[in-house]
Amino acid sequence: MLYQSYDMKDPHQAAVPADNVNNGLYGQDILSVKQFNRQLLTYIMGVADEMRALVKRFGKANLLDGKILANLFYEPSTRTSSSFQAAMLRLGGRVIAINEVRYSSVTKGESLPDTVRTLESYCDVIVIRHPEVGSAAIAAKAARKPVINAGDGPGEHPTQALLDLYTIADELKRLDGLKVAMLGDLKYGRTVHSLTRLLSLYDTEFYFVSPEILRMPEEILQELRQSGHTYHEFEDVHDVISKVDVLYVTRVQRERFDDPDEYERVKDYYVIDPEVMSKAKQDMILMHPLPRVYEIDMRVDDDPRAAYFRQMENGMYIRMALLAAVLGKA
Ligand code: NCD
Repeated sequence: MLYQSYDMKDPHQAAVPADNVNNGLYGQDILSVKQFNRQLLTYIMGVADEMRALVKRFGKANLLDGKILANLFYEPSTRTSSSFQAAMLRLGGRVIAINEVRYSSVTKGESLPDTVRTLESYCDVIVIRHPEVGSAAIAAKAARKPVINAGDGPGEHPTQALLDLYTIADELKRLDGLKVAMLGDLKYGRTVHSLTRLLSLYDTEFYFVSPEILRMPEEILQELRQSGHTYHEFEDVHDVISKVDVLYVTRVQRERFDDPDEYERVKDYYVIDPEVMSKAKQDMILMHPLPRVYEIDMRVDDDPRAAYFRQMENGMYIRMALLAAVLGKA
């Protein structure tokens, strides 16, 4: 691991060296998981481990003192926006939060590049969530400061995939040789697009479970074939539940459907309940990026294999690691 340990007695001396601009992410945009390799992932997950220890022990550090994050959300968010905000605050930075774009000049017709150019003149890093695929890349092109993609429509959600990968590594203590099932809306779910790409850097066998109309996009399946990965497609969760090490459940993305009747037909296609979980391996984990709607019965929450709340917490540690790395302080 590239990351070195530091003296936990003094959080203000955290993360060595004080300025590390050679971490591979310094000053970079984070737009897609395609920009990560295994070495960089090991590094980021190592920093996230340190961030977790730091938060548990001290609650905060002043690594990003004087730095400002602009959190620009054109789509609803609870976890992603608040964990980025908490990550920045715990590292001693500050946040300009633009969650209500209807109160910003966007409603006056301002373009995304102009909004981004404005924000970057006040801040050091921009996090953006936007309903259109490619929007984060457009923002990054307009900006000189780093832009982090917090979800571009049904495209990618790289920071979620990083926290998902971190959770798998943390829970199962390995990333190679796993059978991973993804279930639900594989067509519009950006988290499964990004996570599939990240897991394809490891020896992973994929099980994609969805209704016919919500299958994993051909582009991603083609990438898996090219990288020599085995994948299987199913419609029934019972065909996979006893085999897999990870079951990653997703919400049907209502906001992406043109036809509301089509959404109604598939919205409660899957419900993971104690009966389904009784067929799963004892050492598997159940994940979900959240929010859940119908797809995981609340009676499953107390099952030790239900990892989604731990997964959610991990988001803050990964985002602390990413912000520190992008700003040259990891
Ligand atoms: C996901 C998203 O926004 O893509 N949520 C999240 O960031 N944790 C999943 C979803 O909305 O279904």
